[in-house]
Amino acid sequence: HSKVHCRSSGRMSAVPVDIIEKSKQLAAWTAVDNHILPADKIIGIGSGSTVPYVVERILAQGAEVNKGRVFIPTGFQSRQLIVEAQLTLGDVSQYPVLDVTIDGADEVDHELNSIKGGGACQLQEKVLAEAAKTWVMVADYRKNSETLGTNWKQGIPIEVVPFAYAGVLRKLHSIGSPTAHLRMAKMKAGPVVTDNGNFVIDAPFAVEQMKEPAKLLTQLKLITGIVEVGLFCNLAKAAYFGNQDGSVTIKW
Ligand code: 5RP
Repeated sequence: HSKVHCRSSGRMSAVPVDIIEKSKQLAAWTAVDNHILPADKIIGIGSGSTVPYVVERILAQGAEVNKGRVFIPTGFQSRQLIVEAQLTLGDVSQYPVLDVTIDGADEVDHELNSIKGGGACQLQEKVLAEAAKTWVMVADYRKNSETLGTNWKQGIPIEVVPFAYAGVLRKLHSIGSPTAHLRMAKMKAGPVVTDNGNFVIDAPFAVEQMKEPAKLLTQLKLITGIVEVGLFCNLAKAAYFGNQDGSVTIKW
């Protein structure tokens, strides 16, 4: 994307009870309305707390249209969402080309690059993003920024093969992320384990490196033991952010 456009819609009438939830819902609903058309049959469902509103809006399109669709999840959580909504579940190995995938994001910059993997799903999320003819992100206003790392301070989520993690950490420390660390489960019960049986390293980088995410991504992907990096570059068609005032910012 050489240029990213921004557009804001008008205000919604209702005053939100929970502003953040409301803004997530607004982003999700608007994205579904704009990108999931009756002709779209193979649909990717991303992960995180915004995505249930995507499914909610898809269900509102009616049983008739949804009967003819297959839904592909990015992980255990979205698989459960699809099953509980009684939608048809599919696998990306059966359907390697998706019409649309809608997913959340941890932060999106001015060129539609994003940080993802706050929920440790970045590997499957990236597979579905790349498989989709149209990939769209939905989030609340806190995720919308100029440069990655401005609002999302936890670092880039990096999925690593467990037995290689210590060496990968050393390498990350030496290439500009001295505080990179293994993500631990709640109560420090042990490392977080992804849906693919891997560990996650959170690696904060300096602003200068975050300003060129595609370059950093290439550098990180060359490190042996790294399976996938939670930097999504040059993949998105659009990103939708629900705002506190009930408007939606669309970057595309
Ligand atoms: C999980 C992700 C999520 O999409 C991301 O963390 C956003 O989640 P939420 O909508 O809850 O803010 O990348 O790996």
